[in-house]
Amino acid sequence: MTTMTVEGLEVLASPTALGPIILKNRVIKSATFEGKTPEGHPTKALIEFHAEFARGGVAMTTVGCCNVSVDARNLDNQMYLHSGLHQSLKELSDEVHSAGAKISAQLTHCGFFKQNKPRSTRFTLAPSFHFNKLGAPNGRPFAIGMSHKQIQGLLSDYCGAAEVAVKAGFDCVEIQMEWFNGCDQPS
Ligand SMILES: Cc1cc2nc3c(=O)[nH]c(=O)nc-3n(C[C@H](O)[C@H](O)[C@H](O)COP(=O)(O)O)c2cc1C
Repeated sequence: MTTMTVEGLEVLASPTALGPIILKNRVIKSATFEGKTPEGHPTKALIEFHAEFARGGVAMTTVGCCNVSVDARNLDNQMYLHSGLHQSLKELSDEVHSAGAKISAQLTHCGFFKQNKPRSTRFTLAPSFHFNKLGAPNGRPFAIGMSHKQIQGLLSDYCGAAEVAVKAGFDCVEIQMEWFNGCDQPS
């Protein structure tokens, strides 16, 4: 176990730059999907959740599961970033800003880790063909590999989602690149 020293705490509490953003301290609330988007858009509960972290003093809060397209979601109760959400996302960023923190959107695509039914394609799409144990109980046991064109489409989905976030006043986007994400699933 490491012990936090006074010097360490001073560093933690001191401002820093994250690229062009100045953070008032080194505490960033990590993304945790909270299920507060039941109809696919930010609710008052989601806004209050992040505002509370801002009031508590974090330098930046991260909104999890900001999916880049309708089929990037692995559950139907997640949102995907599109212009129709502008007002509610702006309300969210305004609340966090007025409580003194920055706000980041975690951009994500679930890849084969998909439980819900794809809306725009017949099969779940992933970086490569994959057994999908989450889809299997619902009769969708496989995800198929994206074509080059579909990968280009995925990239532009990321750009489009980032634009939606920035227009709604978000300070930062984070590209989720860990195990259950469409960007980094191994074959
Ligand atoms: C309920 C819950 C939801 C989470 N959702 C996300 C998420 O949407 N994106 C993500 O990158 N990590 C997610 N995580 C992981 C957390 O961001 C964090 O990395 C993890 O809890 C480990 O943090 P710790 O080491 O401080 O416990 C989630 C964790 C929990 C408990």
